Amino acid sequence: MGHATAPTAQVEASAMFALEHVTVTFGGLVALTDASLSVAPHSVHGVIGPNGAGKTTLFNVACGFVRPDEGRDALHGRHLPRLRPHDLPRLGIARTLQGSACSTG
Ligand SMILES: Nc1ncnc2c1ncn2[C@@H]1O[C@H](COP(=O)(O)OP(=O)(O)OP(=O)(O)O)[C@@H](O)[C@H]1O
Ligand SMILES: [Mg+2]
Repeated sequence: MGHATAPTAQVEASAMFALEHVTVTFGGLVALTDASLSVAPHSVHGVIGPNGAGKTTLFNVACGFVRPDEGRDALHGRHLPRLRPHDLPRLGIARTLQGSACSTG
């Protein structure tokens, strides 16, 4: 069973984008536990971890593809509790996928 805790970063109100205390479960499987990250303007971040650590799930929460059990997204210091995929363009968020065919990574 996968069980991952992403590195916890302090969420700052000035962050361009943030995830706060995100927990995701799929049935009995805990994919993310209290995962937080904060992205400052004009910065580039990478997310690394072993297979099944919850990286894609983290991005899916960031894009509204997966609704977290706990936690929420924030953009420019404002919470986005009901972020949905069709909200992304107007918020200036773009998502590319790992694979060009059937992969969900
Ligand atoms: N839709 C889903 N339904 C059930 N379990 C899922 C679902 N999506 C992910 N999982 C499970 O959640 C855990 C985290 O998966 P995730 O795909 O986020 O990991 P990952 O870090 O992206 O892995 P990889 O390096 O292989 O891409 C895994 O145990 C995975 O099997
Ligand atoms: Mg992945």
